[in-house]
Amino acid sequence: VAKATTGGYDGRGVWLLDDPDQASALLDQGVSLIVEERVRLRRELATMVARSPWGQVAAYPVVETVQDGGICVEVLAPAPGLHPDRAVEAQQLAIRIATELDVVGILAVELFETSAGQLLVNELAMRPHNSGHWTIEGARTSQFEQHLRAVLDYPLGETSLTAPAVAVANVLGGDPGGVGIDERLHHLFAADPGARVHLYGKQPRPGRKLGHVTVLGDDIGQVRRRARAAARWLREGTGD
Ligand SMILES: Nc1ncnc2c1ncn2[C@@H]1O[C@H](COP(=O)(O)OP(=O)(O)OP(=O)(O)O)[C@@H](O)[C@H]1O
Ligand SMILES: [Mg+2]
Repeated sequence: VAKATTGGYDGRGVWLLDDPDQASALLDQGVSLIVEERVRLRRELATMVARSPWGQVAAYPVVETVQDGGICVEVLAPAPGLHPDRAVEAQQLAIRIATELDVVGILAVELFETSAGQLLVNELAMRPHNSGHWTIEGARTSQFEQHLRAVLDYPLGETSLTAPAVAVANVLGGDPGGVGIDERLHHLFAADPGARVHLYGKQPRPGRKLGHVTVLGDDIGQVRRRARAAARWLREGTGD
């Protein structure tokens, strides 16, 4: 896997290479690269911790991040079927990273769960992160409040879930097909009043994260379906 050393996000600047010719085509473009071994993934997880200057740390439940073409499209909290020991291992890993790097504020750790069942760190983000947007409604303390508490050296807030299952689906830029966002929102809230919508006010571009939808409930399969349908509807007005 080749990655541009600067400017990459949402899968931009990441190339899963299959042969040396693809690598030399990239090198010819003069992109400055790092190269990683391609990991055989079972799935991707993320864990988030906050740390204050005083040294208090608080870890959130571990989530699964579902990627499509290098873009995170869904976040499931807590990560379905994750063994409790593995969840604690992931949280301890994040706490260790935050402590050893002397982080203040929120730290998101993107993880690979390998097909052999091992946890590997993919990427670190020392800020509130897309994989933590579920905390706005889905945790007792949102990642944004937690970040402020941490940098102000206040006691950190409670990180537990507010419902047994939380799903977030990102709204990506697509072809809105002529129906305005107001009308799509109106229909969405009529069809699913429990969907929580966040729109970021960004200029739409295909594949760009324009917002997200969060759904809380008892069953992860159900909340996932509702969040996904809502995000698809907002994207292109064709959800079911
Ligand atoms: N070494 C690897 N082996 C297998 N898949 C990988 C590897 N590195 C990256 N990927 C895949 O590409 C995706 C994007 O990679 P990465 O998170 O490094 O870059 P990014 O585009 O900067 O992401 P972000 O928007 O989270 O900052 C990962 O989520 C994963 O699906
Ligand atoms: Mg990433």
